[in-house]
Parts: sequence; C-alpha cells; structure tokens
Amino acid sequence: MLTARAPATSANLGSGFDVFGIALERPADVVRVERAEKTTIEVTGAGSQYIPEDPEKNTVGAVVDALDAPAHIKIDKGIRPASGLGSSAASAAAAAVALNELYDRGKSRKELVPIAAEGEAVVSGDAHDDNVAPAILGGFTIATPGGVTQIDASVSLVACLPEIVVSTRDARRVVPSETSVDQLVETVGNAATLTSGMHRDDPDLVGRGMEDSVVTPARAKLIDGYDAVRERALDAGATGVTISGAGPAVLAVCRPGDQRGVASAMLDAFEEADVDARTYQTRIGDGATLY
Ligand code: HSE
Repeated sequence: MLTARAPATSANLGSGFDVFGIALERPADVVRVERAEKTTIEVTGAGSQYIPEDPEKNTVGAVVDALDAPAHIKIDKGIRPASGLGSSAASAAAAAVALNELYDRGKSRKELVPIAAEGEAVVSGDAHDDNVAPAILGGFTIATPGGVTQIDASVSLVACLPEIVVSTRDARRVVPSETSVDQLVETVGNAATLTSGMHRDDPDLVGRGMEDSVVTPARAKLIDGYDAVRERALDAGATGVTISGAGPAVLAVCRPGDQRGVASAMLDAFEEADVDARTYQTRIGDGATLY
C-alpha cells in the first residue's frame, strides 16, 4: 500500500491564462493505493458527496488506465471540488505518482504530467496541464504545448475560497474569443514580469505581473464581491490579486508578514457581499510527495 499527497494549485496567475501554475503548500489531497484485480474508488473529505466513485467518471480512473495499474484507491479530499484550487488535478496527480511507484512503471515526473491531465479532463472536459504540472512538479510551472518548464519559487500567498460554485465549463464560456494587439503587448509584458519575479522570489514583481485585462475581468462577473475583495486585499498590502484558476477562489500575493491582514480584509469584503468564505494563508510549495 502507498500514499501520496498532492497540493492545491493555482492556475493562470492572471497574465498566464492556461499556461502558468503554482503549487500551494496547503490545502492538499491524500490518495492511498493498493494493488487489486479490479479498480475501486472511495472518496472522503471536502465535497466528497459531489465526486463520483465510478472509475469511468472519477478523475483517477483515466490515470489507472493510462498506467495499466488497477488498484483499490482511497481519496481523502482536502480541496473542495469546483474551487479554482486544482481539486481534480490534485487527486489525479497524487494517483499518478502513487500508481507509478506501486506498479514500478518508471515514468519520470514530467512524463506523469500528461497522464494526470487526462484524468482531469474526465471531469473538466478538457486536458489542461496548468494545474497538474505544479501539482506534480511543485513550484511555479509554465505549461506549453512544447513542454513544461519548472522554477522553484517561494512567495507568500493568501487563497480565499468563497462558498460559491463556478464550474470550469461556465468559466471558459465567458473567455473572450478575441483580443487586441494592445492587450497582447500588455499581457506579454505582465507575463514576463511575473516570470522574472518568480526567479527572484520577489512578491512585488509577481504581484504586478498578475495584472490581466483580458480573461480576469470577464470571469470576475461570476464571483459575487470579487472587485471589492480585490480592492480590499490591495489596500491591506497585497502586491497583486487575481482569480485562482477558473474561480471562485481568489489569490493574493503578499510580502512576508502581510498575510494575516490581507486574509482578514478579503474575508470582510466577502462578508459585506453576503458571501461566506474561508482563507488559506499559504505559500508556493512542493509537488506531490510519497510517504
Ligand atoms: N486554465 C484553466 C482555466 C484552469 O482557467 O480555465 C482550469 O483547468
């Protein structure tokens, strides 16, 4: 029997739509696997009542097939589904790492990224590497069709999760199909600034580089209170604020020591909008670990 833990992740980071992702130190999913003739899946923890245990419909089933690794699988969810925090990616990533080891398949971490992405596609409708790459590799990842680049980074964060459900399918429907050259220029500048900030562990550059005038404003309309939450977090010292993944979680980048004030400002703003929420004071962390 083997157990793997895979972290929550935050994709996009504003300017890196469908490309950038980071692993968060917490929360995380824990997946336990045991060899079996036929695959069974049991799900407990946050939002488990909404997660199918049928291997054909669960994010982990496709990972089992890709690795030809039937198993009894127990998934303990620390990450609520439909949160924007890479919930399905974390389960798929933990299962990929654990089953690769259990069956001695010899795949490298990078080779496991597309395998886990297939699992995520079962629930989100599309295979995106931007959540599974950091869930497996840790740090900051740049996922492109040509491959994944990983950078170890250390930046303080607050992830604020409101009690709102936004499906990835709905959030993709509102993404504009066209953009202007001015916005393209701005996005390239921001994405480059953010990447440079990750290399230097510089929260000011990372926060500034999260600015995005294309995808984030369109999606913000799906999150009650988003504009006020963003404003209040910036007033409390956040260096940048954006939607985490497809939402509804909101991600703030902070200088060390500012997390507590930023977290409470975000909670206050959601409360004023009549939305219950919780925060995770966290930082960029490691990828999936076996224990
Ligand atoms: N980049 C994706 C999105 C994340 O924002 O729609 C979900 O896989």
